[in-house]
Amino acid sequence: MLAAELPESERLIDDPFAARVVDERATAAARNDVALQNVIRLRTRYIDDAVRSFVQAHPAGRPQVLLLGAGLDARAFRMTVAADFYEIDFPTTLELKAELLAGVQPLSPRTLVPVDMATTSFVQPLLAAGFDPARPTIVVWEGVINYLSAAAAEAVVAQVGGLLAPGGQLVADYVEMAWFRGADFERSTQQVSQQLSEGGEPLRAGLPDAHGTLRAAGFDVVDDEAVELLSARYGATSHPRHYPARMFTAVRRD
Ligand SMILES: C[S@@+](CC[C@H](N)C(=O)[O-])C[C@H]1O[C@@H](n2cnc3c(N)ncnc32)[C@H](O)[C@@H]1O
Repeated sequence: MLAAELPESERLIDDPFAARVVDERATAAARNDVALQNVIRLRTRYIDDAVRSFVQAHPAGRPQVLLLGAGLDARAFRMTVAADFYEIDFPTTLELKAELLAGVQPLSPRTLVPVDMATTSFVQPLLAAGFDPARPTIVVWEGVINYLSAAAAEAVVAQVGGLLAPGGQLVADYVEMAWFRGADFERSTQQVSQQLSEGGEPLRAGLPDAHGTLRAAGFDVVDDEAVELLSARYGATSHPRHYPARMFTAVRRD
């Protein structure tokens, strides 16, 4: 929504539904944090491009887009891609989304799969909802990894690795632990975590060894970049690194 106020070269994304799902407090907080706005736009653009490229590269077999921790992600409503969307999140979050987007028609079919990923494998509920593991699938795991404990996040990667056919992709952002120079991540981020947990989402360790975990689950990492540095790919103004997040794309190997 704030992206629309920027010059075209800096916008990077177009999300006509942002205004429906973000409240005034969150908008004001984002407006005051230009650096955070930049990384969110770059992250969104990276994932939009990955979804579009993946779907275009698989014209046969009707691709699937699996949003893990979908939250208020409106990709099924705003992206014109020939794919079926599956959205996993807590039941309450999916209900809130239904209220906020009531009356809006998605551009692609979407199936909701309410699951607590920290306590339950999402695989059986997803299959029961009609997801077909033989079809080409891209999994989007955006802004979720560091709300999960290491054990839960590693279990999710193993589930995705077991589910995807070769060539399937997993795209996500994760925290670069080296940024914290050996300090304990959860302790170092206590203050921001406290602010977030007022909204119900404390920060957790996520994937302390993202590459190792992905390799063990059958993935090859084909791209990994610090979020701010993505600006060079999109011709947007570059900003110095100020944020410990990176984006990766991993492909399920044969
Ligand atoms: C920061 S939001 C990101 C939402 C969305 N992916 C996006 O980028 O806009 C984190 C999302 O992960 C979901 N989430 C966190 N822990 C989860 C869990 N254990 N099971 C299911 N969803 C979870 C939250 O409910 C929330 O919707």
